[in-house]
Amino acid sequence: MAGEANPGFHDLISLADLTAGQINDVLALADRLKQERREGIQAHPLEGQTLAMIFEKPSLRTRVTFETGIFQLGGYGLLLETRLGQRESVPDVARNLERWVDGIMARTFSHEAVVELAAYASVPVINALTDKLHPCQILADAQALREHKGDLSNLKLAFVGDGNNVCASWFNFAARVPLHVTLVCPDGYELDPETLAFAEREAPGRTSMTHDIDAGVADADAVYTDVWASMGQEAERKERAAAFAPYQVNAKLMGLAKKDAVFMHCLPAKRGLEVTDDVIDSPQSIVFDQAENRLHAQKAVMQTLMAKGEDGLCAKQRARQ
Ligand code: CP
Ligand code: NVA
Repeated sequence: MAGEANPGFHDLISLADLTAGQINDVLALADRLKQERREGIQAHPLEGQTLAMIFEKPSLRTRVTFETGIFQLGGYGLLLETRLGQRESVPDVARNLERWVDGIMARTFSHEAVVELAAYASVPVINALTDKLHPCQILADAQALREHKGDLSNLKLAFVGDGNNVCASWFNFAARVPLHVTLVCPDGYELDPETLAFAEREAPGRTSMTHDIDAGVADADAVYTDVWASMGQEAERKERAAAFAPYQVNAKLMGLAKKDAVFMHCLPAKRGLEVTDDVIDSPQSIVFDQAENRLHAQKAVMQTLMAKGEDGLCAKQRARQ
């Protein structure tokens, strides 16, 4: 073994799989990479490496920031627009890709497909959104929230809307890193019980869920929302719009939070539905800082997982030898 640093985790499937220290290390590296980019410093720690980017769903931010990010690190991003498991089994896809590429990024419908990819591939696998989770988003968001509010530990983030993949990743984050997260949602759109139970077990008192908008948004330092119908839920758009209408993030709702609260959204936004123009375009809105940080946070994840030692292996490959 070349004595290379081992990040202690080999894939990024869920933030629940990481320790607080590992998450903070990634965030610190993301801050450093952001600063270096501003100073024009170019390092190529992943020189000559290839990242396969599997997309079952559309993307702007994730696609551009992974492809740009791997390029800036000295590597190459290869786009695969395909539905996993249809033409051949997921284990077979993994056992092919690992012979050619150095890392795999996947945006899928099925969460299990990404878990299976990671189990069978000897190269790192990064979850770039599944129906269940969106961990890369929350790393970038946490970086942005820290930039605007400093230390996260006394902050309250009110997630107003659907208990979806983005919300679940916030609960996983709060289970590891001190930060209070409350889901404020209509009846029937709660977070999945497994993720809720996990957060309550790992960090009692740090996460909660309510249907009461006033109580949920009170004292919030950050108000976060996301689309009411995620990719794959388009058929439910109408009924969801009716159920979520009272939960629209508008000036009145923002008025319930702290005066200096920031507004956050993972984007893409459906303006006029989950958020009004006056909120998303207000000085309180940090949505484009979040989007920018997708680049820095994902570069930090790729560098952490894919960097190779003198033996030519990354930590995951070395562990599997
Ligand atoms: N927030 C986010 O993941 O954006 P895309 O769907 O455009 O990648
Ligand atoms: N919850 C949204 C996030 C998009 C980045 C979706 O899954 O479509």
